[in-house]
Amino acid sequence: MATSVEQPVGKALPKLNARAEFTGLFLPSDSHDGAEERVMAEILELGLERNARELDNLGYTVLAPEQVAAGDLADRLREKLLDFAEENLGFRPDLENGDQIKAEITAIGRGHFMPAVMFKDPLFEQALMTRSVLALMTYLLGENCVLSSNSAMLKVRAPEKLELHTDQVGQPAPFPPYAQVANATWALSDYSPEDGAIKFVPGSHKLARHPTVGEAIDDSSAITISAPAGSVIIWSGNTWHGAAPRTNPGGRLSLIFLFCRWYLMPQMMHRQWISQEALARNDDRFTVLMGKRSPYSGLDSDGQPVDFTLGQSSKFA
Ligand SMILES: [Fe+2]
Repeated sequence: MATSVEQPVGKALPKLNARAEFTGLFLPSDSHDGAEERVMAEILELGLERNARELDNLGYTVLAPEQVAAGDLADRLREKLLDFAEENLGFRPDLENGDQIKAEITAIGRGHFMPAVMFKDPLFEQALMTRSVLALMTYLLGENCVLSSNSAMLKVRAPEKLELHTDQVGQPAPFPPYAQVANATWALSDYSPEDGAIKFVPGSHKLARHPTVGEAIDDSSAITISAPAGSVIIWSGNTWHGAAPRTNPGGRLSLIFLFCRWYLMPQMMHRQWISQEALARNDDRFTVLMGKRSPYSGLDSDGQPVDFTLGQSSKFA
């Protein structure tokens, strides 16, 4: 004779309304703290709803120069980076017509790669802190995201294309459906197919995996971006992207900021390298972006390393 077995009845779980993208430290319900509302209010105030929708639907978006709204910053960034390139190469590259750059093979194409430029001039801090760009990056990665790397690339004419890939470097699939890393690249020269622009497979972020070897070399479904100098191209780390070979003379100049969620290891240790002067001349968000406010960062609330051997634990931010 069958007997009914009483099922254990647990405490009902609270309904979690917050989107995973905006989760706090532990549970969205108790630590979300209005983050989604703040982030969306910023998007609305800046008129970036279409861009946010594109990030959701396509996995990438392009901020036009008037949306970036940074005045002549792109022009000054371009000249500063050309100064750096001139120091390195011994001549000032001509972005329009020059073919004099000796094309080095780099992980992101042929050209002259300049890592960690942000530590060489405060101008790049202005680019990092540009409100419109940060609004969309916050939409993707949360208010506590950090800067993973900063660099610049002067891409030159060469036959090779950059194969399709995601920026979830080293992460096994499946990826979570939301971004864990994201890229904001300033186009400091015009982008077009002939200029060797970046290309995206629309909607590929929803696949939540890397392309296979075969898929990586088949970019027939990718769309190459055309955008004027001064635009900022933003994409989820999940989105499949590559780049067209540059067929025009001259060079494609870009400033690249990679961001990640606070719990991931940044590619560059900004929190160790950033100067006190840089922290002092920027606001608190900059300190967060440098990884100096992240929980479990090993830094105390003053940004100083915690000496765990002394049992010090009471000053976490
Ligand atoms: Fe990439």
